[in-house]
Amino acid sequence: MSTRILTGITTTGTPHLGNYAGAIRPAIAASHADNVESFYFLADYHALIKCDDPARIQRSRLEIAATWLAGGLDTERATFYRQSDIPEIPELTWMLTCVAAKGLLNRAHAYKASVEQNEAAGLDADAGITMGLFSYPVLMAADILIFNAHKVPVGRDQIQHVEMARDIGQRFNHLFGQGRELFTLPEAVIEDDVATLPGLDGRKMSKSYDNTIPLFSSSKELKSAISRIVTDSKLPGEAKDPDSSHLYTLYQAFSNRTEQAAMRADLEAGLAWGDAKQRLFTLLDEQLAEPRERYHALMAKPSELEDILQAGAVKARKVAEPFLQQLRESMGLRSFAVQGADLTAGKKKAKKTSRVVSFRDDEGFRFRILNSKGEDLLLSKAFADGRAAGMATKHLQTAQDALDVRQVEQQLSIWLDDDCIAQSPKYATDAACDAALAELRSALNSDAAD
Ligand code: TRP
Repeated sequence: MSTRILTGITTTGTPHLGNYAGAIRPAIAASHADNVESFYFLADYHALIKCDDPARIQRSRLEIAATWLAGGLDTERATFYRQSDIPEIPELTWMLTCVAAKGLLNRAHAYKASVEQNEAAGLDADAGITMGLFSYPVLMAADILIFNAHKVPVGRDQIQHVEMARDIGQRFNHLFGQGRELFTLPEAVIEDDVATLPGLDGRKMSKSYDNTIPLFSSSKELKSAISRIVTDSKLPGEAKDPDSSHLYTLYQAFSNRTEQAAMRADLEAGLAWGDAKQRLFTLLDEQLAEPRERYHALMAKPSELEDILQAGAVKARKVAEPFLQQLRESMGLRSFAVQGADLTAGKKKAKKTSRVVSFRDDEGFRFRILNSKGEDLLLSKAFADGRAAGMATKHLQTAQDALDVRQVEQQLSIWLDDDCIAQSPKYATDAACDAALAELRSALNSDAAD
């Protein structure tokens, strides 16, 4: 079976060198591997969350589409589309919204950061926060789950969202899968060595730091940006340390081993920063010349880009449409005309899969959660009294997706208000630990449903 890779880029800005080297170029390279199917898209519904300038959204969609194609994406091989051309995505978003725990979304970093900013400024906690921002991870879960992606290459800031997609997908499987995995549970993939290209000042290259190097602007603009790269004040002839120089990091991201070794040796031998910048410029200018030309040719013919994206949407919907139909049916949105539809069969009562055992030892009141085979899934801490232990048990059984489960090495722990209230045994392998987590979630969810 092939591996499905999926990633999207929010269409709010003009792609810079960091977006290209960190996200677009590696994704294009990955799409050439055997046994992969890639789904790459313009996250233009996500763009609406951050931006209310229609002209900017439209320009950005065009620029980002042209960048993928100029970078050599083969749209015969990969499925390349705009999110807003796939109506199955917002449909699934609603279905998932009805399954996602609000408590889970309360914990999303982007939303939490906005609330904290408001509070720090003495404003109402939700001032200026739209439902779009709050529900952003559900839309992202729909993007990922509708194509049953296995791997989702993202930046560090997006890992939590992919994990939420897993949680939501798992819950949907549990509720509506009748024992089958309707959704594949996705995994975030972080490419650390390329993902964080430094900008002019050495911090991560990002529009919000105003430290970006343009991608497909003129050679002159490229040169001027490179001249602004911050270096230390070592004079020509003085030895430079390549490893503490982000100019070298940038050079590395675009050069082969031989070029890297030569640059390293020359810096150590005292190459002037001015000359090093010239070398970086020559390298980038040469490498970007061809895609730059393709980019401008594409930008000049938006209707060709439109055709390519329309064809991509057709291809994507061939997958999404029948799958969404199956999902609708799993939730009870079925045709009345289908013969033999069993309208009377209710939801089968889930077999109890777990047991809670309360007990008391020298340190206080505790409980265990056992699986159907009687093996320990969790052991609680010692509570001062039976009531506190009872409340913790109740929390476990009702928190559902808002349950704060953490994993350190191969051990799970459950947290409530910054307090570790229960721990699993230490498992020997990651797989055993993952299986225990799935077992625990399904045990707790079915308890709550009973
Ligand atoms: N939220 C992502 C970002 O801002 C973009 C995105 C939207 C995405 N949907 C996705 C990334 C699905 C991966 C998979 O970077």
